Amino acid sequence: MLVTLKEILKEASNKEYAIPGFNVFGYEDAAMVIEAAQELNTPVVLMTNRDAIAHMPIKILGDILTGLAKEAKVPVVVHLDHGKSVEEVVSAIKAGFSSVMYDGSQLPLEENIRRTRKAAEISHYFGVSIEGEIGSVGYSDPNIEAKAIYTVPGEAKRFVEETGIDAVAVAIGTLHRMKAQKANIQYDRLREIEELVDTPLVIHGSTGVKDEDLTRLSRHRVGKVNIGTALRMAFGDTLRDEINSRPEEFDRIKFFKKPMIEVKNVAKEKIMTLGWGRKQVLEV
Ligand code: G3H
Ligand code: ZN
Repeated sequence: MLVTLKEILKEASNKEYAIPGFNVFGYEDAAMVIEAAQELNTPVVLMTNRDAIAHMPIKILGDILTGLAKEAKVPVVVHLDHGKSVEEVVSAIKAGFSSVMYDGSQLPLEENIRRTRKAAEISHYFGVSIEGEIGSVGYSDPNIEAKAIYTVPGEAKRFVEETGIDAVAVAIGTLHRMKAQKANIQYDRLREIEELVDTPLVIHGSTGVKDEDLTRLSRHRVGKVNIGTALRMAFGDTLRDEINSRPEEFDRIKFFKKPMIEVKNVAKEKIMTLGWGRKQVLEV
């Protein structure tokens, strides 16, 4: 079923598990993420980043993802990731997304607050959840120009109070697009933020987070954990092997089979590390 982020964050707010948010780029990975969530009976967030909506019109992508979400047996959020303008947020709402992120993290604080509040007013008017970002999670890819700025706890408090957002992304040591799990999480900073901010927190760049830290983070007030690169590597690396090992084959549907299974396997592993493994054991 298609749900808003706010609806499923209620379930994660007991500090035992975090909701996985996976970047997806089309039918193949989105369907596998939903299968993974269904097999583990967990909610999940399908997220479209800027590359995805540059590749496919947002309305078409929205139709595919909301169609899959509506058919799913578990709660599924369809979320715009890193929207950079109020116009992008509006186009996602028009395309049927149930949640959006307005990312003003590169803007001065006052401007970030002003634009995020505007995006929040519009989203809430249409019953759509919204995430903002304070501080800025940078990129390990040197070709991407984005300043990395650790979140200042007092600014996070002001940001959520003045914008009315449903979830807030914070920068506590992660970086986008890390291929190895080598991020150093600043738990002291996280605790200070938690003391001041009631709004569920979001961790970006979580491919680079070690498994033990994913589990540890899920016990804090972290509502959503964003994972993209891990699934892209699973799909792309397996697809490359498939193409190289079968030079006579040209049917892309046949090439896609193994990469899709790999995506599902990685999604299941990540979901389990986010506290849901413990929940499964308790429910048996
Ligand atoms: O917003 C998307 C996430 O922050 C993904 O980050 O690709 O480094 O896992 P990642
Ligand atoms: Zn991100």
